[in-house]
Amino acid sequence: MSQLEWWRDAVIYQVYPRSFADADGNGLGDLRGITSRLDHLVELGVDALWLSPFYPSPQHDAGYDVADYRDVDPRFGTLADFDDLVAAAKDRDLRVVVDLVPNHTSWDHEWFQEALAAGPGSAARERYHFRKGLGVDGELPPNSWQSVFGGPAWTRVPDGEWYLHLFDTSQPDLNWDLPEVRKMFEDVLRFWLDRGVDGFRVDVAHGLVKESGLPEWTEAQVPITSPGAEHRIPPMWDQDGVHDVYRQWRQVLDSYDGDRMMVGEAWVAPAERLARYVRPDEMHQAFNFNYLMAPWTAQDQRIAIETSLAGVEPVGAICTWVLSNHDVVRHASRLGFPPGYSTQGGIGIGDPPPDEALGLRRARAATMLMLSLPGSAYLYQGEEVGLPEHTTLPDEVRQDPTWFRSKHEVRGRDGCRVPIPWEPGVAAYGFSPNGQSWLPQPGDWDRFAADRQRGVPGSTLTLYIEAIRLRRKHGLGGGTLTWFDGDDLVDFRNGGVRVITNFGAVPVPLPPGEVLLVSGDLAADGSLPPDTTAWVRA
Ligand code: GLC
Repeated sequence: MSQLEWWRDAVIYQVYPRSFADADGNGLGDLRGITSRLDHLVELGVDALWLSPFYPSPQHDAGYDVADYRDVDPRFGTLADFDDLVAAAKDRDLRVVVDLVPNHTSWDHEWFQEALAAGPGSAARERYHFRKGLGVDGELPPNSWQSVFGGPAWTRVPDGEWYLHLFDTSQPDLNWDLPEVRKMFEDVLRFWLDRGVDGFRVDVAHGLVKESGLPEWTEAQVPITSPGAEHRIPPMWDQDGVHDVYRQWRQVLDSYDGDRMMVGEAWVAPAERLARYVRPDEMHQAFNFNYLMAPWTAQDQRIAIETSLAGVEPVGAICTWVLSNHDVVRHASRLGFPPGYSTQGGIGIGDPPPDEALGLRRARAATMLMLSLPGSAYLYQGEEVGLPEHTTLPDEVRQDPTWFRSKHEVRGRDGCRVPIPWEPGVAAYGFSPNGQSWLPQPGDWDRFAADRQRGVPGSTLTLYIEAIRLRRKHGLGGGTLTWFDGDDLVDFRNGGVRVITNFGAVPVPLPPGEVLLVSGDLAADGSLPPDTTAWVRA
C-alpha cells in the first residue's frame, strides 16, 4: 500500500445532482449542469466529487430508489452525458465517485416487477424478502420491524404476501443471501469501473444482510446503534455477513488499475464496530457520523476526534470527517442551536429557528477544524458558501418520504436539498436558465451566491479555498496530532501547524507564530474570539 493513494487525504465534494445545476431548464439539476460547473470544484481545490444517484428511478426517495443500475435517468441526462462528465473531470484532475444503492431496489426495478407477477413461492420472489403475514388470515405484518422513514417495514401485496422495506414502500430490500443478487452487483461495479469511475459510495452499507429468520425486534427503527445500545445488535443492521460482500467487492476493485475506492455509509457505533468496515481487505473508508453528531463543546469534539482516530488505528485505515450531507440539517444551521439540541427531524415553519449568525460563525470554525484533521474530508455542495438549511419550506412542497411516512410528524430532509445559489440577482440564483427550481429557494440567498463571494476577502468561499490550499501545502491530511490541554479549547499540533478552536465565552491568547488562517476576525489584541478556529505556524 503506498502513501500516495489519493483517497487517504482527499477532500471529496458531494454533488447532489438534482440541486447542483440545471442545464436543460426543467428545474431539476442534471449531469450537463454539473459538467458546466466543474471549474467551481477546481477553484475550491477539492480532489474528487461524489455524485448522489442519477440512475433511472421513479424518484420516490430522490433517486435512492434505483430502477436500473446501469443507466442514467432521462431527467438527469444520458450515459453519453455521464461519459462527458467523467472526461471533463479527468481533464481537471478531479476523481469521480458514484453512489451505489445495494440494500434495496426501486419497486420499478424489473426484478421486483417480476416478483410481483410471479407470485408466492417463485424464484423471482426469492430475490427480495417476501413472507406470509401473521394473524388468522395473514393480515398482520410478519414481524414488527419499523421503517427508518416511519411506519411498518412491511407492505402487503394483492396476493396476500408481505415484502420487507427498511425504507420507503417503494424501496423493497434485496435478499443478499442469494448468489444471483451478489452477482448482479458485481456486474454493476464493473459497469461503472469500466466507464472510468474512481470509486463508490455504498448506501446503507450496514444493512444488506439480515439476521437469518428475521427475528422480532420491537425497538424503534433508527439507523444507528447508539452508544449505550452497543450490546444489542439489531437483526437488520451491522450483521457479520455484510463483510463478506465488501471483501468480494474489494477484490473486484483491486483487479482494476488506479486506486479505485469504496466509502461506506454505515450508521454504526461505537468506532470499533465501524472499523470493521475498513479492515485491509474491505472498504477504504467509512463515513464518520459520530463526528458529525458530536455536540459543539470542546470536550465532545476532542472525544469524537480521538475516539475516531483510535477506532481505525488497529485496522490501519484512515479516518473520514464530515459535517453536512443530504440527510442532515446543514451544519451552518445545526450549530446555530445550543450544543446537544437535536435537529434530527429537520426544521420547518413553526419550529424554533437557529441563530443564523452564530451558526455560520461556528460552521466556519468547525470546517477549519475538520480540514485540519488527518484523513479524508467530505464537503456537501453549498457549505462552501456558508449555505444554511431552508428552515421555512412550505410543508406542501415537501418531497422527503419521511414527511409522508411519519404522517407529517417528522419534517425530513428537504431543507438541506434546496438547489444551491450561484449568481446573485437572477432567477433561481443561476441554478437553472429559466428560474425553475424543484424546491423553492428562499428570497434572501443573494449573499450566498458563489459569484458574490468569489475573490471577496473574508467570504466563506474564500475561507474554504484558503483552508483547502493550506491543508494540502502543510500535509495536514497525512499528519498526526499532538494534543495540548486548555479549558474550552480544542488545541493540537498537526505537523508544522497548531490548530486551536475556542469553544469558550471569552477570547484566548494565541501561541506565538505566524497566523496562517482564522475562521473569523481576531480580537483587537490579537486573541482568538469564541467559536473561532485559528491555524498558526508552530
Ligand atoms: C441513505 C441515503 C438516504 C436514503 C437512504 C435510503 O441513508 O443517504 O438519502 O434515503 O439511504 O436509500
